[in-house]
Amino acid sequence: MLSIIVAISENYAIGKSDDLLCYLPDDLKHFKALTTGATVVMGKKTFFSLPRRPLPNRRNIVLTRDTTFTYENTEVAHSIEELLNIVDANEQVFIIGGGEVYRQFIPLVNELHITHIHHCWEDADTFFPEIDPTIWQCIEKERHEADEKHDYAFTFATYYRRK
Ligand SMILES: NC(=O)c1ccc[n+]([C@@H]2O[C@H](COP(=O)([O-])OP(=O)(O)OC[C@H]3O[C@@H](n4cnc5c(N)ncnc54)[C@H](OP(=O)(O)O)[C@@H]3O)[C@@H](O)[C@H]2O)c1
Repeated sequence: MLSIIVAISENYAIGKSDDLLCYLPDDLKHFKALTTGATVVMGKKTFFSLPRRPLPNRRNIVLTRDTTFTYENTEVAHSIEELLNIVDANEQVFIIGGGEVYRQFIPLVNELHITHIHHCWEDADTFFPEIDPTIWQCIEKERHEADEKHDYAFTFATYYRRK
């Protein structure tokens, strides 16, 4: 089972200067709850943007074309084909970013876990591809309002690929 998990702004921005656009503690908890115990796959830039790496209690796989790259307690795949060969068909695999990796995986996954952040960042440098409603059906939505810990309102949404 291959899924994407991502936080996206209203203009599809996901990052700037190798960092996230904002920190929403409840979104980080949501990410942790969904991915703990599963496998997480990320591009090398996202891996090095993590404050703590590899992510604990998850099988971490980093995508890089650098054949000399190694990192403790972390697996490496050098292509999508190699990645698909080292995961089991019944393994829950989350693609966790970033932009370059999401663009390649969106045709391959069946499920999107999107946190829609209700704000626009015009100065972002990394974007998610558009979510085509003829391909993706939203099956679940849960809105959270801004509060003292969250600068922006956000909605957790799950999309399934239409048959
Ligand atoms: N909002 C969110 O939910 C979210 C989530 C994750 C990341 N982000 C943000 O996204 C940004 C990073 O994204 P990005 O697009 O710059 O980089 P990225 O996708 O994280 O990493 C790109 C790197 O991954 C490797 N790679 C990509 N495709 C590959 C393939 N098919 N085979 C082998 N290696 C491959 C390459 O590494 P080498 O150059 O080493 O070959 C490439 O340079 C940051 O701002 C980050 O904060 C946001």
